[in-house]
Amino acid sequence: MLFDRKDFPADFVFGAATSAYQIEGHAQGGAGRTHWDDFAETPGNVVGAQTGARAIDHLNRMDEDLDLVAGAGLDAYRFSVSWARVLPDGRGMVNREGLDFYDRLVDGLLERGLKPAATLYHWELPSALADRGGWRNRDTALRFADYAGIVADRIGDRLWSVAPINEPWCVTWLSHFHGIHAPGLRDIRATARACHHVMLAHGLAIRALRQMGIGNLGGVFNCEAAEPADPSSPADRAAAARYDEHYNRFFLQAACHGRYPGTILDGFAPHMPEDWEEDMATIAAPLDWIGLNYYTRKRIRHAPGPWPNMAEAEPTLPTTSLGWEIHPEGLHHFLMMIARDYAPGVPIYVTENGMAHDDTLTRPDTERMDYLRTHLAQARRALRDGVDLRGYFIWSLLDNYEWALGYGPRFGLVHVNHDDLKRTPKASYHALRDALSH
Ligand code: NOJ
Repeated sequence: MLFDRKDFPADFVFGAATSAYQIEGHAQGGAGRTHWDDFAETPGNVVGAQTGARAIDHLNRMDEDLDLVAGAGLDAYRFSVSWARVLPDGRGMVNREGLDFYDRLVDGLLERGLKPAATLYHWELPSALADRGGWRNRDTALRFADYAGIVADRIGDRLWSVAPINEPWCVTWLSHFHGIHAPGLRDIRATARACHHVMLAHGLAIRALRQMGIGNLGGVFNCEAAEPADPSSPADRAAAARYDEHYNRFFLQAACHGRYPGTILDGFAPHMPEDWEEDMATIAAPLDWIGLNYYTRKRIRHAPGPWPNMAEAEPTLPTTSLGWEIHPEGLHHFLMMIARDYAPGVPIYVTENGMAHDDTLTRPDTERMDYLRTHLAQARRALRDGVDLRGYFIWSLLDNYEWALGYGPRFGLVHVNHDDLKRTPKASYHALRDALSH
């Protein structure tokens, strides 16, 4: 058994998650271009230059996919709304067809008794806004709040929960410093500005949604355990602490306490936008819940050269097919950290957890079942330790577009044949259904 339903509170929410660009098929339905299309079509950025143009064609297979969520016995479905599908230029003209799609999606969930958990930004910025500087430009945050209002106006009355931004670290550091995600920059100044503007976008959207009477608003943060590569080296220990601050604490501290950690601010100091301090109250708008996306641990060593002087070292724990260390205790660690340091008394959800594996249709995905079993055990441990954990979402419902890694990595409970797009539930899907029905 993956877990015992009785070990979790009766109203504990089990769900699965996806995101728009990774599943919908962005070229269809009147959506505008996004910086992910531009990035992916540039040779060298994405394995095989694969894009989300077709993805797994969820746009035309929505009913089948929602039947899969319901068929597993899940309570909720976390999906994202694509900004450029709603507003092809990021502002101005609305694409009715796009809003109609999300309207049908939400109704489809409700008809099946599922809770619609919406995210408003899961990484595909409209190209027209990227042209104007993207997240380096403060105006993008203001446009995001407008877009949030347009979405909420149409479907907000039926959403169970809303999170403005998925994983601010990935939107900023991974995309503007490491150059691994769109827009593919490697620039500390762009990173500092993106960090602040993404958090401003989060705060402005929360405020706009509240003003419209929309409830159950949260933020989704990703955390990675940081282990000094050589625990006896003070330099490695300091590098791991910096990793923890910039990755795990920076965004949570801003959203929950209205402050950025000093160690990171020191490095960002020459680059922060003018008068950033004045935005901190907006950024710290009260939240109804905190979402944690957790996957792995990194071993961190000191790197010579300019700040932030940290680099990844080789894994030592068993890894997934992406080389990500499997470290279930990290889930417990971060649930405790959030409950203790950032959001005492605020409900917490695990909004993503799962693994990539080279699944085939001829053998069961036992590795995924082990991963889910061990991580759910840590979620349960956190509950026993007093964390107000309200739910757990698996990444992902379906195999999909894994960003710069293209369609190779498979995270789904449901296998997708990327030629004919046929969906086939894996053994983990059946195991989940069994556990949920007991
Ligand atoms: C986090 C992201 O939210 C999602 O888009 C991604 O596919 C998974 N992690 C796996 O890398």
